[in-house]
Amino acid sequence: MDRPAPIGGDFALEAGLLAPDGALRPPGPAPWRGRGHGLLLSSGRGAIGHALDLLARRGLSGRVWLPAYACPSVAAPFRARGFELRRYGQGPGLDRPRGLPRRLERGDVLLLIHYFGRLNRALLDYAGRQAERAWVIEDCVQGCLARGLGRQGDFAVHGLRKWLPVPDGALLCSPRPLGPPPAPPREELASRQLLARWLRAADPDAARALALEAEGLLEEDPLPRRASWATAWLLRRLDLQGFRRRRRVNWRRLDARLRERLTKGPATPLHPLHPDLGPGEVPLGYPVVLAEPDLREALRRALAAERIWCPVHWELEPEARAFEADWSLSRRILTLPVDQRLGAAEVDRLAARVAHHLERLR
Ligand SMILES: Cc1ncc(COP(=O)(O)O)c(C=O)c1O
Repeated sequence: MDRPAPIGGDFALEAGLLAPDGALRPPGPAPWRGRGHGLLLSSGRGAIGHALDLLARRGLSGRVWLPAYACPSVAAPFRARGFELRRYGQGPGLDRPRGLPRRLERGDVLLLIHYFGRLNRALLDYAGRQAERAWVIEDCVQGCLARGLGRQGDFAVHGLRKWLPVPDGALLCSPRPLGPPPAPPREELASRQLLARWLRAADPDAARALALEAEGLLEEDPLPRRASWATAWLLRRLDLQGFRRRRRVNWRRLDARLRERLTKGPATPLHPLHPDLGPGEVPLGYPVVLAEPDLREALRRALAAERIWCPVHWELEPEARAFEADWSLSRRILTLPVDQRLGAAEVDRLAARVAHHLERLR
């Protein structure tokens, strides 16, 4: 019998991906449009770095407030520029800010993350009270297709790589002009990323190795760079509207299937991080929280053995330990895929396999 197709994992360049000419009407309206200025850079961290370089001319205190719940690449552009890093927590649901002063100092930078494609309302409310003194960067890397994110801060960063089969790409948006243009893309990085997308089905091992090499190159390259030509070409041909719709449909279906299956048995050792999906929100995935870190790892491995790839967002940096709830969440969370490649049958299979393994593991 044929093995079922993989679920989740890196995006590939595959047949049927590109919209036929003229099919994108209105022409692929991107949720980040309408924000004054936009610049296509190669990575999220490069886009944050470019924003900081622009702010350096306008007055910075040299201090940044970063969420404890963040991947290390968020802090990287601040570290590279010698910022003093301060952290804040957000509690077990990532919606209760703690550890932030009532008033930020003039010239401080506040970075807030919209997690998993959802509006971070609590942090936006706080940011709104600081706007006179501090610079606000809205990190929408996990919310690039959602509507209404990134409309309030001085800058918004939308990451494309986690959502689309593009080799690189992050959009920096701002009501202010975004010049001068950053450095050109690095050929050896963009080519590896492009080849990795292209080879994923034909030679997954080579694709994985190329993707890892590209990540390594990105980590050692501090310069903000423009996105590759290939990314700009692909963006004009991807059905972003369709992707957005599909992800919302998949989220709802997975939510219903999991709730049906998991509320039947005794107390479930898994719960969804979010109770619902707001209007305009487009999910990066369907994050679930397990009762124990070991159970999270066992479930992740069991699903991976069936080629159901579920990322962990994220391994936090050691200083995040000071925020017990955020730290504990990061060790128990798992993101189930709901991306545009999945149809109803895959979503049902995903829910069934999660329920099956949980039953077996507990
Ligand atoms: C929330 C968030 N911000 C920023 C980044 C950095 O993006 P990039 O890897 O494109 O530099 C990431 C990367 O995973 C991220 O998850």
